[in-house]
Amino acid sequence: MAEVKGQVLVFVLAIAFIGCVVSYDRPPVRKNISILQPKQFSSTSPQQVHISAVGPDKMRISWITQSSAPSVVEYGTSAGAYTESATGTSSSYRYLVYKSGQIHHVVIGPLDPNTAYYYRCSSDSTRQFSLKTPPAHLPIKFTVVGDLGQTGWTNSTLQHIAQSNYDMLLLPGDLAYADFVQPLWDSFGRLVEPLASQRPWMVTQGNHEVEKIPIIHSTPFTAYNARWRMPFEESGSTSNLYYSFDVAGVHIIMLGSYTDFDPDSDQFKWLQGDLGNIDRGKTPWIVALIHAPWYNTNTDHQGEPESDLMKQHMEVLLYKARVDIVFAGHVHAYERFSRVYNGQADNCGPIHITIGDGGNREGLAKRYMDPIAGISVFREASFGHGQLEVVNATDAVWTWHRNDDDVSVVSDAVWLRSLSSSPACKS
Ligand SMILES: *[C@@H]1O[C@H](CO)[C@@H](O)[C@H](O)[C@H]1NC(C)=O
Ligand SMILES: *[C@@H]1O[C@H](CO)[C@@H](O)[C@H](O)[C@H]1NC(C)=O
Ligand SMILES: *[C@@H]1O[C@H](CO)[C@@H](O)[C@H](O)[C@H]1NC(C)=O
Ligand SMILES: [Fe+2]
Repeated sequence: MAEVKGQVLVFVLAIAFIGCVVSYDRPPVRKNISILQPKQFSSTSPQQVHISAVGPDKMRISWITQSSAPSVVEYGTSAGAYTESATGTSSSYRYLVYKSGQIHHVVIGPLDPNTAYYYRCSSDSTRQFSLKTPPAHLPIKFTVVGDLGQTGWTNSTLQHIAQSNYDMLLLPGDLAYADFVQPLWDSFGRLVEPLASQRPWMVTQGNHEVEKIPIIHSTPFTAYNARWRMPFEESGSTSNLYYSFDVAGVHIIMLGSYTDFDPDSDQFKWLQGDLGNIDRGKTPWIVALIHAPWYNTNTDHQGEPESDLMKQHMEVLLYKARVDIVFAGHVHAYERFSRVYNGQADNCGPIHITIGDGGNREGLAKRYMDPIAGISVFREASFGHGQLEVVNATDAVWTWHRNDDDVSVVSDAVWLRSLSSSPACKS
């Protein structure tokens, strides 16, 4: 760890130095990517495979087949030798004239922590997958990326994430940018499968997931809820749009910016209960994800109710519970704030980080407000992703990796102390 700390220090110094002498040219928009079903696939070939953690020792395997196929996962700890099997359910949905394939969800386990498993879906022997379960105890390494979309920049970001050897991916909303065009959800599923079939991808929703059309399709989140089912029941939530879970000493809270959040709402009451149940001995760290940022000095997305009203209602809850970090997306840029509460620097408030720079087709949000608010520590409109390595109960390191064209460059790095270890912040 001393070595890592040394490296980070070198990075920080190098960044300070480079920042003075080199200006980075903002890259133009890259082409949209659309990934079609490979020609050799049959109508029952499993595709768009992704996994998500369920409770402390289980994993949900999700995939799609064009026509109906068994919702079964066979798995084991050596390649090709499937000693275990589990069955689940499948469903499909309609959206205007589009009819989805069969969307399968199967929960496997109990699984050992930090262990590689091999698996196949719908008994299809032509496609074999592998995954690694998260560790049971710290350290753990998260990748955090928002507003991914599917462009050449998304591809670049995904390549960098693939090199990062992370345990779990956290996504604060805006996945496919399908925007009513349902086959783009399928394309996105194929684009992320190489990564999302190997490590749990834990997501929450953004505005691009709503896909509600008055009268014609009045139900929101149809595709998102069907395809990206998350472990909400396990945390006492009644909605796939907000939930929480524990992983290796970190309590993660996924909030829904595009569902009700006022004090009378189910989400608000659920959050109060969830925060009240946290055992800081077991999970010394608390991390929350939202989509629309509560703190933002970019000119984009100012004054939206999902930012301002949600903050007004919920910020005090996160503050009193001593949440360590709040990640957001929505603004297509990177920004890190100091510890903050109610608009002011506060040593017992969460650090707010906007990481909406995954690479979507809308491009970067390049204009910032002037002057810089005192609490905004680092901001830059470039594509990239973040990594949060929680080392132990007290220390974690956050790094932001900018896509310098196709090279991943650490451009912001900071060591964090958990609030649970701060005597001054005892709640
Ligand atoms: C936690 O990690 C930090 C950073 O590596 C280290 O300095 C510290 O001694 C560790 N604390 C414990 C209790 O191991
Ligand atoms: C990407 O596709 C969207 C529609 O899905 C379109 O509006 C946009 O112009 C396209 N971008 C490029 C760079 O081709
Ligand atoms: C993604 O990037 C890799 C590496 O640069 C490249 O080989 C691949 O063709 C790209 N994929 C798409 C769909 O653009
Ligand atoms: Fe958004």
